[in-house]
Amino acid sequence: MEAKDASSAGDDTALEASRPRTFIKDIVRGVTEELVGRKVVVGGWVKTGREQGKGSFAFLELNDGSCLANLQVIVDAAVHPLTQLVPTGTCVLVEGELKKPPEGAKQSVELKVESVLEVGPVDPAEYPLPKTRLTLEFLRDFGHLRARTNTISAVARIRDELAYATHTFFRKNGFRYVHTPIITTSDCEGAGEMFQVTTLFSNAEKVEKELKQNPRPSETDIEAAKLLVKEKGETVSQLKSSKASKQEISASVSELTKAKESLSRLEERFKLKAGIPQKDGKIDYAKDFFGRQAFLTVSGQLQVETYACALGNVYTFGPTFRAEHSHTSRHLAEFWMVEPEIAFANLEDDMNYAESYVKFLCQWLLDNCIEDMEFMVKNFDKAAIERLKLVSSSPFERISYTKAVQLLKNVTDKKFENEVEWGIDLASEHERYLTEVLFKKPVIVYNYPKGIKAFYMKLNDDQKTVAAMDVLVPKVGELIGGSQREERLDVLVKRITESGLPLEPYEWYLDLRRFGTVKHSGFGLGFERMILFATGIENIRDVIPFPRYPGRADL
Ligand code: 4AD
Ligand code: MG
Repeated sequence: MEAKDASSAGDDTALEASRPRTFIKDIVRGVTEELVGRKVVVGGWVKTGREQGKGSFAFLELNDGSCLANLQVIVDAAVHPLTQLVPTGTCVLVEGELKKPPEGAKQSVELKVESVLEVGPVDPAEYPLPKTRLTLEFLRDFGHLRARTNTISAVARIRDELAYATHTFFRKNGFRYVHTPIITTSDCEGAGEMFQVTTLFSNAEKVEKELKQNPRPSETDIEAAKLLVKEKGETVSQLKSSKASKQEISASVSELTKAKESLSRLEERFKLKAGIPQKDGKIDYAKDFFGRQAFLTVSGQLQVETYACALGNVYTFGPTFRAEHSHTSRHLAEFWMVEPEIAFANLEDDMNYAESYVKFLCQWLLDNCIEDMEFMVKNFDKAAIERLKLVSSSPFERISYTKAVQLLKNVTDKKFENEVEWGIDLASEHERYLTEVLFKKPVIVYNYPKGIKAFYMKLNDDQKTVAAMDVLVPKVGELIGGSQREERLDVLVKRITESGLPLEPYEWYLDLRRFGTVKHSGFGLGFERMILFATGIENIRDVIPFPRYPGRADL
């Protein structure tokens, strides 16, 4: 039995549910002739419902999230009270027969309900998402319900496809998936934009509350408790030397134990101090949960490098956190990043991997997600599908940072808000000009000035630039940031120090260079930025299920 289960784990049959249900996608995408006459159970949420024929039957447009399309469902009043079924948002599980609709209907098959198995009713006066078109901004206030809308559910499916495509791409290319920590004690980007993880505040609050309810014992209380312990101890000795009964001795021993316990509780409480623990005028992190300062990770790169230096080709794909105060449509405080790390690879290999990964993602959506992509074209960005086709089929432009600066300096048809000078960090307006106006396709800019890039990037022979690369794409600007890593111990030590960072927290990272160092490269793709690029949706807050940004962390 067990062997059979294990061997069937890889086949295509889905698990049987307690109540087998047909997904609407399998009905709307099926062959009409094969479907008509079939009995099915479907379950979903009513998009629109209307009573017809003077209340003798109702049409329900039912959506179950398996695809964008709804299934038209017809229920007779004799089967179930219609007023309970028609409000938008109502959940129903129904059983019936698939029928061919009358000539001229837009759907190819509809469901005639024979019984209503379950209903999750909605009071239409209370339901916050009426069927009128709602703005994405409005929907952000309903994070718990917005997945029921066409746009957010289409984004969710596209997001899921991109995640699956990511794992498929890396597996095909011999990469292993590594889980890097969420809580970390190293600042990967060295940019000081980390959220701190600490229990010092909640502990201080707990102590404060506790001391209010139950004030700290005084020194006199402690003295009295000590005296009691002494007395009880003496009683025990006396009873022992006077050869008292076993019973008497054990009763007094138990009293002594109680007195000792009470003393130690008092002493413990006596030490309680309100406020954040301090030492030498600074916060004493030795008293914090991890015994040192800890943060949420800004990138899994440094940790995934340790696995690249053992397993070769690896990647991590997880949430990352940045306490940037940027209120832009391209930044989140919590976002997901895909970070491959490749042993024996130089910057050019890195660019090749980045380019072929992005192309793979675009082609994947064209092959697996066309209905949702057509929805995006219709509602958000006419060029979305064309863009995927173009990107998946034509080579990216590759230019050095120095060349990019030259090109931008020569621009006459646009005035940039930020002046272009060799040495500046390219602003979003520059990046978008390069990719949207000058080249009209993805552009990889490489060899950036060392002063604007992280310490771990390999210093080039010119001593001025590092082997970094950014992939810039239309609509978004920077989609990927990556580099060849500095594998020379002495140069790396110098770069850390020059960047004003302490060496101690990076000793383990330096060990990778001390012991069996290897040329290696990697990059990070901002997963939500990839979704923006694919869908043409304007704001990054609408392509992650639960957006976090300054001032907002709902649910
Ligand atoms: O360029 P970044 O900062 O690179 C790194 O973190 C490297 N450690 C990656 C590596 O080499 N393994 O970030 C990588 C990408 C950016 O190109 C951008 O797409 C995205 O992450 N990103 C953000 N996305 C949403 N909100 C933010 N606040 C983001 N910051 C960066
Ligand atoms: Mg970057």
